[in-house]
Amino acid sequence: MTDALLSARNLRKTFGGLVAVDEVSLDINSGSLHSIIGPNGAGKTTFFNLLTGRYRPSAGSVLYKGREITRLPVHQRAHLGIGRSFQITNLFPNLTVLENTRLAAQALGKDNFRLFRRAETFDVYTRQAYAALEMTGLREVVGLPANVLPHGGKRKLELAMILAADPELLLLDEPTAGMASEQVPELMQIIERIRTDGRKTIVMVEHNMNVVMGSSDRITVMHQGRVLAEGDPRQIAADKTVQAVYLGELYDLPKGESA
Ligand SMILES: Nc1ncnc2c1ncn2[C@@H]1O[C@H](COP(=O)(O)OP(=O)(O)O)[C@@H](O)[C@H]1O
Ligand SMILES: [Mg+2]
Repeated sequence: MTDALLSARNLRKTFGGLVAVDEVSLDINSGSLHSIIGPNGAGKTTFFNLLTGRYRPSAGSVLYKGREITRLPVHQRAHLGIGRSFQITNLFPNLTVLENTRLAAQALGKDNFRLFRRAETFDVYTRQAYAALEMTGLREVVGLPANVLPHGGKRKLELAMILAADPELLLLDEPTAGMASEQVPELMQIIERIRTDGRKTIVMVEHNMNVVMGSSDRITVMHQGRVLAEGDPRQIAADKTVQAVYLGELYDLPKGESA
């Protein structure tokens, strides 16, 4: 717990009579890539929304750097350094890749630049946008309208928009969703670069088991609103209960590792 950047403590979320998230506690270590997986309906998205601030929990708390943020709205969490996925639908289709990214830097800016005059502020956001576009491999397409990017390019732009505000923690909801499988490795390389070169902590809800097993430092498995298991990829791949409820169908264990 000493090293936790973000912690959930006994988080619970009910919708009417349905308990979507049931007493979930977990710690996200600084600098780690921590994936949350589980079958459909396990409560992953609901839990994720409790971390981003989109939902208020029915009970429990969320701590960031030891500070309680349970009831802070999304934008206030952003000011603390928590960046969360934009939906592709939030892009301004006719604005360029650069303009979208710069707007994200402004919208999620940390308010550090009030001291600057307006033109200088603009320069700061532009620089941040370029740095984010560089890291996501979009440097060559900065002048294109966002809507001409292919789906994979739009997903990269989403990442650039999160990065533009230079968050310490990135919350990513299924970053590879809808991508052609041949584009997935490149996106994962970008995420890996963000984590290592950018020295970020990343929490990711992700369906693609190859991605999760190949890139995560730590994995939390949810099932029916609860934490079923937590560990590194090898531990999770070898966990009999996890296999039984989930991985058995979706992830082929390497030979000799099933015992
Ligand atoms: N806004 C909502 N209103 C009512 N029920 C919801 C809502 N969001 C999710 N649920 C229910 O909560 C459970 C967990 O859903 P969800 O968090 O989306 O799971 P996952 O992302 O793991 O597939 C499901 O039974 C789902 O139907
Ligand atoms: Mg979901």
